[in-house]
Amino acid sequence: MFPQVEWEESQVEVFMFISSAFETIKFEVKNDLGYLIINREEKLNALNSTVLSELKELFEALHNKIKEEKVRGLILTGSGDKAFIAGADISEMKDMNKEQARKFGELGQQVTLMMESLPIPIIACVNGYALGGGTEIAMACDFIFAQESAVFGQPEVKLGLIPGFGGTQRLAKLIGRGRAKEIIYTGRNVSAEEAKRIGLVIEVFKDKEEMLLGAKKTFSKIMKVGSNAVGNSKKVMNVANDLTIKEGLNAELSSFIDLFGSEEMREGTTAFLEKRPPNF
Ligand code: COA
Repeated sequence: MFPQVEWEESQVEVFMFISSAFETIKFEVKNDLGYLIINREEKLNALNSTVLSELKELFEALHNKIKEEKVRGLILTGSGDKAFIAGADISEMKDMNKEQARKFGELGQQVTLMMESLPIPIIACVNGYALGGGTEIAMACDFIFAQESAVFGQPEVKLGLIPGFGGTQRLAKLIGRGRAKEIIYTGRNVSAEEAKRIGLVIEVFKDKEEMLLGAKKTFSKIMKVGSNAVGNSKKVMNVANDLTIKEGLNAELSSFIDLFGSEEMREGTTAFLEKRPPNF
């Protein structure tokens, strides 16, 4: 019923990544919040196979270790001041044959599904160009913050391609079919201000520093509530798009019932009745 991701067993400790040398991404955890940075600044953080494979490796480890290693949320951003992600790597794609293209597309799609299936929220902090795969990765996050200079778009048609990491599906679901088609058919840029107006972005900030601060503030609120309740909300809300309303309501009901009698629910309800803050 829920989005299917083939999680592979990962024996890797999440905290190993903090000091380990990924080539193209950086990851660290501070106060239970993970900071994930796409780190190919000289190529405007374009997504090549290495970036996608490293993201997959990290998400697999996070998926298996989230509970014991206490990561309650992720902030995803791009390194530098210019780009979040300027798209899939065009130089790598240029000479791909169909089989290589299939593997590349599958890897990109898999990464987006993993992001949606992780039981913790991910906020995209878009710090510049988020074109093609950049908009697609941002849309796989739970919601999107942007700085004023951010630029979104699906310019694949200008390369004789179509979006391949979920853009044809997720953009329409987020902003409506007509506007999504107009953006994809023209390949035009979408400013942060327009992105907010059409519901792609939920908050626009003056600069990167304010945006990251804004994301941290949002997480400080999320971290005060029940983590299972947040994880279950994410699971059920993400699945809503794929189901009929009846199936969606059934998914909601089964998740709702699951939480009854949990330690979290007991603490939340008891704390309210005892007029004290809950201790999750
Ligand atoms: N794939 C591979 N390399 C990319 C890239 C991408 N999607 N986007 C940027 N780069 C590289 C450039 O080739 C350049 O590398 P070089 O210094 O070795 O020549 C470097 O990043 C800097 O980019 P540049 O184009 O010089 O910066 P700019 O400020 O003039 O323009 C953009 C910025 C984002 C407008 C422009 O880079 C661009 O249009 N990128 C492609 C966007 C796109 O079509 N994405 C969808 C791909 S499916």
